[in-house]
Amino acid sequence: MSPLDSEGETDFTAIGFEPAEPSFIADPYPVFARLRELGPVLYYPPRRVHLLTRFEHVHGALRDRRLGREFRHRYTPKEFGQPESTERWPSWEASERWSLLNLEPPDHPRIRRLVSAVFTARSVAALRPVIERLSEETLSAALDLGDFELIADYAQPYSVAVICTMLGVPRVDGPQLLRWSHAIVKMYELHTDTGQKIAAERAAAEFIGYVRALIDARRRHLEADLISELIQVADRGDRLTDDEIVCTVIVLLNAGHEATVNTLGNGMRALLRTPGQWRRIVAGEVEPIVAVEEMIRWDGPLQLFERWVLEDGVDIAGRRLRVGDRIGMLFGSANRDPARFADPDTFDIGRGDGSHIGFGGGMHFCIGAPLARLEIAVSLGQLRSLAPRLRLAAEPEYQPFFVIRGLTGLHVSASSMGSPRRNTDDGTHGAVPRPRNG
Ligand code: HEM
Repeated sequence: MSPLDSEGETDFTAIGFEPAEPSFIADPYPVFARLRELGPVLYYPPRRVHLLTRFEHVHGALRDRRLGREFRHRYTPKEFGQPESTERWPSWEASERWSLLNLEPPDHPRIRRLVSAVFTARSVAALRPVIERLSEETLSAALDLGDFELIADYAQPYSVAVICTMLGVPRVDGPQLLRWSHAIVKMYELHTDTGQKIAAERAAAEFIGYVRALIDARRRHLEADLISELIQVADRGDRLTDDEIVCTVIVLLNAGHEATVNTLGNGMRALLRTPGQWRRIVAGEVEPIVAVEEMIRWDGPLQLFERWVLEDGVDIAGRRLRVGDRIGMLFGSANRDPARFADPDTFDIGRGDGSHIGFGGGMHFCIGAPLARLEIAVSLGQLRSLAPRLRLAAEPEYQPFFVIRGLTGLHVSASSMGSPRRNTDDGTHGAVPRPRNG
């Protein structure tokens, strides 16, 4: 089948680029390879976006200040050639209004400076003993089940507990935060139906109310946590407003587990499907902190980030773009680009190449990267020592979402002969079916 349609445009369907199709989501990488071969910049009409397929151009676009996450700070929708949106999701919009992810200068550097002053690599490193304890607690409970679901029984409660502890959010509210977060991030997908938008709006309203109450409580009584620090932080006479703190707490809570959990899920799937690579970790040949990079490069959780063209004169690989155009950076494709990585499709857990663009780049570079790296490394270290015989108990499947790409679950067995790792006296523990709450 020709990759071009009758008008000479890229025929994405023929190539298999169908972001809503489970078969594409299950393994988008062969399709990315075909897209990269077709060209570095491909216009995708359904989304009116110029897709960047290769590492070099994604890397450059992330650092190009003429491209922005937002345009309304400089243009009206009319000036920008965009229709005025008729949909209104006020709570969702309020929850995003001051999120670092969406901001442009001058707001972005101002807020990022204030947040960075409290969310430092040092504060993360100091948290290591707490992170180790939270992982150990959660993993031990999961291992006691014998066969368990690595995402719901371990990665999620662990990662949510870490970010809650750091921010000062009660851990008992973890399951509620997960529900809000899962509902809210559906708004980032390419295909979001009305039901999902209504759910996101409701979740955002509740989440904002919840965070406001926490801020009020901390104003009355400061604690040794990040919310209290965000309230107090001041820089060059500048402070965060309550709305800015609310959005910052929400983005830290959401980003603080969604991508980390999916990295653990996707990465452990890859490791357990290539047991030779898992054995390299167990044998100590590859250190967990090195392995993290390949997990993110080879099957990262975030596949697409977009930017608007804010100034004329932007030229990407010979494609001249105009103000109002939009580009889409295919992270998964960039991270498998053979022009940048030798044998890019080989999952080589010892590769140790941290120059992938899994954490982004430029001014929006992931503020949580040190925390994510530490959390995942601690996880791998404990999985290899507490569950060296870990193996897949069922073939995992991906959720039907492309932008934030992760598994529906990862059923594993940690025991040597299919029997539970830790037996109770009657020997039935872990073999007894248990209720699952989703
Ligand atoms: C493996 C896990 C993670 C991955 C792969 C990841 C990836 C990313 C990427 C690609 C961006 C840039 C987005 C863009 O350019 O538009 C980003 C930004 C961000 N991430 Fe992460 N992230 C992870 C974990 C975390 C954690 C643990 C936190 C916080 C606790 C966090 C907080 C943020 C924030 C606040 C931003 C926005 C920064 C800004 O715009 O200035 N992330 N992340």
